Amino acid sequence: EAVKIKNICCIGAGYVGGPTCAVIALKCPDITVKVVDLSKERIDQWNSNNLPIFEPGLDDIVKECRGRNLFFSTNIDAAIHEADLVFICVNTPTKSYGLGKSRAPDLKYIESAARRIADISTSNKIVVEKSTVPVKAAESIMEILNSNHKPGVQFQVLSNPEFLAEGTAINDLLNPDRVLIGGEETPEGRNAIESLSNIYSRWVARQKIVATNTWSSELSKLAANAFLAQRISSINSMSAICEATGADVAEVAHAIGLDSRIGPKFLVASVGFGGSCFQKDVLNLVYLSECLNLPQVAAYWNQVIEMNEYQKRRFVDNIVHALFNTVCDKKITIFGFAFKKDTADTRESPSITICKYLIDECAQISIYDPQVDPEQMLHLNTHTHKYTHTGIDIEKYIKIYKSPYEAAKKAHAIVICTEWDEFKTLDYERIYSSMCQPAHIFDGRQLLDHKYLIDIGFRVEAIGKNL
Ligand code: NAD
Ligand code: UGA
Repeated sequence: EAVKIKNICCIGAGYVGGPTCAVIALKCPDITVKVVDLSKERIDQWNSNNLPIFEPGLDDIVKECRGRNLFFSTNIDAAIHEADLVFICVNTPTKSYGLGKSRAPDLKYIESAARRIADISTSNKIVVEKSTVPVKAAESIMEILNSNHKPGVQFQVLSNPEFLAEGTAINDLLNPDRVLIGGEETPEGRNAIESLSNIYSRWVARQKIVATNTWSSELSKLAANAFLAQRISSINSMSAICEATGADVAEVAHAIGLDSRIGPKFLVASVGFGGSCFQKDVLNLVYLSECLNLPQVAAYWNQVIEMNEYQKRRFVDNIVHALFNTVCDKKITIFGFAFKKDTADTRESPSITICKYLIDECAQISIYDPQVDPEQMLHLNTHTHKYTHTGIDIEKYIKIYKSPYEAAKKAHAIVICTEWDEFKTLDYERIYSSMCQPAHIFDGRQLLDHKYLIDIGFRVEAIGKNL
């Protein structure tokens, strides 16, 4: 029979663990939800008025539930001990060393969480893998649990990947397209799936809760992100053709999106996709395919990443070319450092790569972003090591501004990297008159009214459009 869950422990208080558990606590007042993390700093932030992540709608939910049935703590062992169900929401970054370096996901955090669960547990538990992992990771988790458990303690391992996108996480969690739960095809496995389904069904329609076998669930997560990333690379490849021919990528996207088989979403050509997951998960799939001796499959998906790198490079090449083939010592203003709007997250942000390429050309970079922590921009993101390869003193080349108008003063060019709404309504006449002439704008997000800018006097270049 399916166990009724009363206590949940979530290991990992990050972008996934925090918002997911806040929504579970909101919708299930009778369940106690404890979110735990190794990082005391992160837990302290969750317990403060200044949450560690910026996500529209999150503050209100945390305020309502925190101290009632939602708790944030560094006492990992106690939370595991009390729980009937444990979510593993730790990070699974691309490996930076050893076998599979730069491609395989690093599973050390998953393994240490699993070992901790095995060590601490004195009662049966459902262990839910929510982090994104390679196919068959649940098998490793099960083996670690079963080789280390106390006598009589039983575990069920489920795969329940998360599909939320940053910036819209709360809405995605409240109204998911589907909830996917993979488990063992045994009576115990089915009961565990039922226990977890009973949590989601408090606010998600039953027909949207999909049960599969464990490996289908794990692969579906990688497949979903690969298909989404592929759509962006596909439309970005079209943007290159548009710029060379006079076709307009927005018109092309609209025209193909009207085909109900293609659909209108996720067809916005851009300077390239960023974020902590698309690249990591496609690389995960590529590595998995290689390990399964499927080199053609690996090459197919690897091209999605190649196209993304090409898009960023192509964008910067266009900037340098338009600025008379030299940006050396020129002030170039970057609008937007987050990897997309409505988040302060900069992991794998295309802005980072663009700044790096421009610094290679000895440009002076000024950056304005409405949400990103200035420290993080200056130290160029602890999550990525891309900058460190340049071997130069980054701080000499980068200045952070609190005002877009100050950032653009005396600049030769403005480069739109993130599609923040506020960039649409800035006073571009004021900006224009403060800049070096001729003043350029490079719109990497199809965000601005290009005709209006040209009328002001700007020289405008935009992704996917020959202006
Ligand atoms: P994150 O880095 O924001 O959070 C992970 C947290 O886990 C960190 O705070 C870290 O300190 C903690 N941690 C690591 N090992 C631990 C341990 N042994 N015990 C306790 N805490 C530990 O990561 P995230 O963005 O929340 O992503 C988590 C997982 O979810 C990844 O696998 C990711 O691919 C997946 N995912 C992320 C998103 C997203 O939008 N960010 C969406 C869907 C899925
Ligand atoms: C993505 C997926 O959308 C989520 O379903 C998934 O759960 C998540 O990855 C994950 O596994 O981490 P996220 O990266 O937060 O979510 O944000 P997206 O909205 O997917 O945007 C990713 C990148 O693609 C951004 O840089 C965005 O600007 C870019 N993008 C998106 C485009 O360039 N064009 C588009 O049409 C859409």
